Amino acid sequence: MSIVKVCIFDLDGVVVDTAKYHFIAWRRLADELGFEFTVEDNERLKGVSRMDSLEILLEIGGKTYDEETKIELAQKKNDWYVQYITKMDESEILPGVKDFMTLLKKENIKIALGSVSKNAMSILNNIHLTEYFDSIIDGTKVSNAKPDPEVFLNAAKELNVLPQECVVFEDAVAGIQAAINAGMPSVGIGSPEILNKANKVVPGFENMDLSILEF
Ligand code: BG6
Ligand code: MG
Repeated sequence: MSIVKVCIFDLDGVVVDTAKYHFIAWRRLADELGFEFTVEDNERLKGVSRMDSLEILLEIGGKTYDEETKIELAQKKNDWYVQYITKMDESEILPGVKDFMTLLKKENIKIALGSVSKNAMSILNNIHLTEYFDSIIDGTKVSNAKPDPEVFLNAAKELNVLPQECVVFEDAVAGIQAAINAGMPSVGIGSPEILNKANKVVPGFENMDLSILEF
């Protein structure tokens, strides 16, 4: 018998492949600023807040700017990103995600969103998935980005469960670390080499059943 009461899903790179849109927008900014930004570099930005991501990007490019310019640069990146996500629809929900969520609902396991993105609500609405969630914690509700556990702990608190009764689904190194910091087991979505601190790693949700919740 599983003790799991809540599954907490990261959004970008777990429910939808928006990680690619974040990457394209950051790379476009790097291009404009005159330096290279690779897929490998991008791993460091996953799960990290917008402003923290910009800091990492500028560090990679060896650039320094004043606060005002940094805010403009982050805004520019976000404007491009928003252009990409406004075109999204249900077809961009990653394979197996909806089936797995339906399975959880049948078992009375609650579903939460734990994302630091401030664009989370518009993505969920565009892909018509908002009503699947019992709790939505996004970047507008937290002040600390992953690896801080705030986003996951807030979801547990809102649903009135203990951290150890939750399971986190994450594609980011910072997100797996946030789950560890929250005292929650995690399932990495992606590569076991990158997500080596997760309790389990799978390539995606296709054919996933409840045995994934046994640790
Ligand atoms: C996370 C992404 O979900 O949200 C990060 O993994 C992103 O790459 C962060 O920087 C903040 O997103 P947004 O949409 O608020 O810029
Ligand atoms: Mg993610």
